[in-house]
Amino acid sequence: MGRKNKLQRFAENRTFNNLFQYSYEEIIKGFPYKGKWNEFFGNNNRIVLELGCGKGEYTIGLARKYPDVNFIGVDIKGARMWRGLKTSQEEGLKNVAFIRTRINLIEYFFNEKEVDEIWITFPDPQVKESRERKRLTSQNFLRQYSKFLKPEGIIHLKTDGLLLYDYTREVVEQEGHILLYANENIYGSDDLKNEVTGIQTFYEQKWLSNQTRIKYLEFRLNPKMFKANKS
Ligand SMILES: C[S@@+](CC[C@H](N)C(=O)[O-])C[C@H]1O[C@@H](n2cnc3c(N)ncnc32)[C@H](O)[C@@H]1O
Repeated sequence: MGRKNKLQRFAENRTFNNLFQYSYEEIIKGFPYKGKWNEFFGNNNRIVLELGCGKGEYTIGLARKYPDVNFIGVDIKGARMWRGLKTSQEEGLKNVAFIRTRINLIEYFFNEKEVDEIWITFPDPQVKESRERKRLTSQNFLRQYSKFLKPEGIIHLKTDGLLLYDYTREVVEQEGHILLYANENIYGSDDLKNEVTGIQTFYEQKWLSNQTRIKYLEFRLNPKMFKANKS
């Protein structure tokens, strides 16, 4: 995308009332809806995050399907996120918001147990071992998610990468998380919930056109993580 187009999108992003973007200095002073997302959405409905949402296909697709659940897409790239924001405005989706931030800062936006579920859709695989901590399913990130996810909250991972899929299964096993479902080829199965195959992201479509198998995991965090947060 050209620089001019990007700048136009950044400018339009500033007009959307369902996008939150703050500098680091601002966010550490306190995010106004932390612990109060119900005030923003005007209801007490469940909250589901999509991390590394890109254009926000899951945020939008699930929001259309479940109007009584609130969906928040999170990514650092504002020009991509513009697509999801624009669609949410055009369709008048009141149950959608986006946060433009590094996911490393996500705990500043939510209180303990404020989030019900997390989708991680086609995250960067960070294949180099030295970048392991940057994988969105590293124990480091999972510890962060435990600060705002409900203990019964499910984490969904959808990925093209066998490395990331195997790595996440290992983290789940080694760290005592609870594996609920694992599938290495979702389009070769017919036992999946509709939202797993029925919504395809931009990156997913790219990988599917290369005949790459799409993998999917569902797990809960080790209950000890939530107790450790209290001590
Ligand atoms: C490969 S893209 C996938 C985008 C989208 N989920 C899809 O499937 O089309 C990975 C996305 O994660 C975002 N991302 C990766 N690490 C991030 C981080 N630490 N904080 C915020 N966004 C991040 C990138 O900006 C990018 O949009």
